[in-house]
Amino acid sequence: MADTQVLQNVLRDEQRLPRVPEPGVMVIFGASGDLTARKLVPALYDLAAQRRLPLEFAVVGVSRTEMSHEEFREKLHKSLEEHRSGKVSDDVWESFSKGIFYLAGDSKEPKAYDELKEFLRKLDSERGTQGNRAFYLSTSPSLVPAIVQRLGEAGMNNGEEGGWSRLVVEKPFGRDLESAQELNEEIRRYFDESQIYRIDHYLGKETVQNILALRFANGIFEPIWNQHYVDHVQITVAEDIGVGTRGAFYEEAGALRDIVQNHVMQILCLTAMEPPVAFDADSLREEKVKVLKAVRRIPEDDVEHYAVRGQYERGWVWGEEVEGYREGKDVASDSVTETFVALKVFVDNWRWAGVPFYIRAGKRMPKKATEIAIQFRPTPHTPFAHGDTQGLDPNVLVVRVQPEEGISLKIGAKVPGQGFEVSSVNMDLLYGTAFLEEAPDAYQRLLLDLMLGDPTLFIRADEAEGAWDILAPVMQAWSEKKEVSMYPAGEWGPEDADDLLEYDGREWRRP
Ligand code: BG6
Repeated sequence: MADTQVLQNVLRDEQRLPRVPEPGVMVIFGASGDLTARKLVPALYDLAAQRRLPLEFAVVGVSRTEMSHEEFREKLHKSLEEHRSGKVSDDVWESFSKGIFYLAGDSKEPKAYDELKEFLRKLDSERGTQGNRAFYLSTSPSLVPAIVQRLGEAGMNNGEEGGWSRLVVEKPFGRDLESAQELNEEIRRYFDESQIYRIDHYLGKETVQNILALRFANGIFEPIWNQHYVDHVQITVAEDIGVGTRGAFYEEAGALRDIVQNHVMQILCLTAMEPPVAFDADSLREEKVKVLKAVRRIPEDDVEHYAVRGQYERGWVWGEEVEGYREGKDVASDSVTETFVALKVFVDNWRWAGVPFYIRAGKRMPKKATEIAIQFRPTPHTPFAHGDTQGLDPNVLVVRVQPEEGISLKIGAKVPGQGFEVSSVNMDLLYGTAFLEEAPDAYQRLLLDLMLGDPTLFIRADEAEGAWDILAPVMQAWSEKKEVSMYPAGEWGPEDADDLLEYDGREWRRP
């Protein structure tokens, strides 16, 4: 980093001004895909609009489709206007889009890398991008090893002339423990762990990061955040949408690989981890890995007592009739791929011994709702008459990740009136009203961290592998048993999911 940049960033830190990354290029492989148009470029546009990117910044899209720079820009502009809620400023777009370029090429062919290398050198001299490159692999997972190898062979695993080179790998990271290990090995033949940014967009969500703020910036929660006070934890990642046009991908993935291995496991880690000594990449990720290691492995011959596999049938969501998963495009008519997963896991350590963590993730649920609910043990004794406490539930602290982002605490309160009836009410914090600033999109945060070289909110190799290891027995049992429990679209999953909790004398929350 140049001295002036260091000085500027020190001054910015002192004045708590946002840091601006060094000049550099983001190369996106798979640039004609959905993610680039819907998420990556809108996030970069917003960063540019907020002046969070250096002027010497460029985006180079690479994919097979033939397109000129101008056609690529137009495509992105159209998508930006479609997907961004606010108006797209002509001035910002004008200056931002000047730094957008496109190269058509087959990412399996060495020739494409020679051209790319030349082109990036040209950008270094014309736009002052100083040899710094971030390669974002937004391609089909099967292409990742080949791209990494080609980048390495072309010498692009190091930045040009003292610049840096970073690699972003999208999920799914492998499809089981073995493939994730292999992938890690292949990538590390060319890139050092410190250069690898495995992305999980949930870590970029403000409310997911806020789990850490809630736990470690407040003195009142940590003392009760353990098996002495917590009865159980429920983690829900519910979506009302179906699989849509992603049938082919989903048939290969299923909810376990698509959502649980990454998003849910990350939420579990942040909820269950010990306080890190500092908010830096190593300290944070070290503590997350300890949680993954402590999760009790589900016995392979007893998976049905811990895991439920569900799939949606035709049903009604928001008053509209929707097709079943098997009726969708590119889906087998006898598919047993899960669109819903419920799991019961235990974190076998001093803090959480005996506390079940119930997890569910599903598509075509009645609504979109991602939340973490910590249900506390009931009071040991209530002095009030039995009839007076019938409307009283245990205390529950709910972190609403989305929508209606916020936190609520269910407490018992006296119902106004003569007697002493006690009922449950919610103390509610809505982020939207508590803070005037609008929360940035998850990709904004993560792309900026990437350009700044901060991997704290990215996944380390051992985390990805640890999460696969936990799910291995479930995947094994499900691959042998070709059965799935059906639920009508618009319901909270199959009945077996209710049984999972009823068996323990508990029930799922209805977010
Ligand atoms: C993606 C999954 O990672 O996350 C999708 O592949 C899912 O299937 C999406 O719909 C959910 O993300 P969000 O941010 O809308 O909760």
